[in-house]
Amino acid sequence: MIGYPLGHTLSPRIHRAAIQALGLDLSYEAVETAPERLPAFMGELRGPEWLGCNVTVPHKQAVLPFMTELADEARAIGAVNTVVHRADRLQGHNTDARGFVEDVQEHFGPVEGKRIAVLGAGGAARAVCCALAKPAERVWLLNRTPERAEALVRQFGGALQLGRPENLREAQLIVNCTSAGLHEGDSPLADELVPEGAALYDLIYNPPVTRLMKAVTARGGRAVNGLGMLVRQAAASFHIWTGVQPPLDVMFEAVHV
Ligand code: ATR
Repeated sequence: MIGYPLGHTLSPRIHRAAIQALGLDLSYEAVETAPERLPAFMGELRGPEWLGCNVTVPHKQAVLPFMTELADEARAIGAVNTVVHRADRLQGHNTDARGFVEDVQEHFGPVEGKRIAVLGAGGAARAVCCALAKPAERVWLLNRTPERAEALVRQFGGALQLGRPENLREAQLIVNCTSAGLHEGDSPLADELVPEGAALYDLIYNPPVTRLMKAVTARGGRAVNGLGMLVRQAAASFHIWTGVQPPLDVMFEAVHV
């Protein structure tokens, strides 16, 4: 996994647990890579010992020019979180959208036909919009800077439209894709805008309960954090690298210790 700074990342734990459970001869390392080191690392990745890598902030877009080919989702999202090294080629994938949909459906049922409000219009929101634009019935996009939300609506189309705070009451599911909440006490929504009995999926998993999640449960709603999305995007990456479906329960256990 490359990123900068990498700090405390759960991904090695998740992948190592699956590697161990399957008895595979693989290792998963966190390689802190400063931006100026990125080209050199992309060169090293073509070495025979590398199966590929995960990519995180701030490199998800920066690795695009190094890819020999791009999977559809990575192209649509405009970002790569998983690189596969095969026969001197580097394929760029993005498993965030898949990880998101799988975990949301696990908790809230099918996204098909749902009316959903999405908060945010940054990188995380791009993956979520890519996942929801086709299957959802309606997706209202709300962002502090509306121009960025408009750009997403134009790009992904489908069920997406620009939203307003009133739409939060109509939404069967609210998805927080903003970074507001990473710092304890921050929220993308004033508490009084949170509707009664809402269903919330918050992509943030650290802290495990955000201020927005608390506001939702305080009003009789149900809130789920993004830890399951993290695990499921990891499982999808693992499958792309190895061709093996990793044991999800083991991967979940690794982050619940
Ligand atoms: P990421 O890749 O995690 O999505 P990003 O691209 O920096 O990160 O996007 C951060 C998102 O959180 C944006 O939608 C941002 O809103 P702006 O587009 O207006 O910047 C949103 N965001 C960050 N802090 C926020 C806050 N305090 N209140 C509301 N939205 C916030």
